[in-house]
Amino acid sequence: MRSPKNFYLVRWAKPEDYKQLLDLSATEASIIYGTDRQMALEEYLRIYGPEPYMTREGIKKSISDYRKHRAKDYIIVVEKYPERRIVGFVHARVYRNTAYLNDIVIDLSESKRGLGSLLVHALEDAIAETHPEVRKIVTDAHPGSRKFFERYGYEVVDEEVGRDGIIWYRMEKKIGD
Ligand SMILES: CC(C)(COP(=O)(O)OP(=O)(O)OC[C@H]1O[C@@H](n2cnc3c(N)ncnc32)[C@H](O)[C@@H]1OP(=O)(O)O)[C@@H](O)C(=O)NCCC(=O)NCCS
Repeated sequence: MRSPKNFYLVRWAKPEDYKQLLDLSATEASIIYGTDRQMALEEYLRIYGPEPYMTREGIKKSISDYRKHRAKDYIIVVEKYPERRIVGFVHARVYRNTAYLNDIVIDLSESKRGLGSLLVHALEDAIAETHPEVRKIVTDAHPGSRKFFERYGYEVVDEEVGRDGIIWYRMEKKIGD
């Protein structure tokens, strides 16, 4: 019998994905804050509050807005087959002609394989298709992710120490014509 090969599917998040997205958020917070996953997630939630991708309702709303041609929260995941495990996601929100890339995370065991890059490109394509008026994508990168964003054309325009005591680089990338 032939064994099934691994492949990765990039798709819009479904409501039932929220638990896996919370789990990845805990991984991300622990990388940024250097504490254990649970503590780091609690710290993140205390400072910033829940994100739309952390609840069923938040994800449902993103789908409903998208269907009404009013996409606002872009929650795009990469799912590994055949086990159907979500190994990364990106979240961005559109405000008029700017999109804010709020979060991108790839499971540690799947990093450096080009999946982060897939998500950055999928996000840009989705925004260009649904909100062609968007002219730039903005993000806040920490020292460990700055280089990743620079590789995809983001430039540092400012830096500040955040409410969590971490240096955050404000980065921007122009998109569209
Ligand atoms: C930042 C992050 C999303 C990048 O995801 P990733 O899937 O590892 O990214 P990619 O594989 O697309 O690219 C990362 C690097 O791997 C390299 N790479 C890509 N494909 C590769 C391959 N097949 N073999 C070896 N290296 C590869 C890229 O060239 C890139 O190199 P760089 O580090 O010199 O820029 C991921 O490391 C992460 O989740 N970090 C923790 C959370 C975080 O910091 N998020 C950002 C919040 S601001």
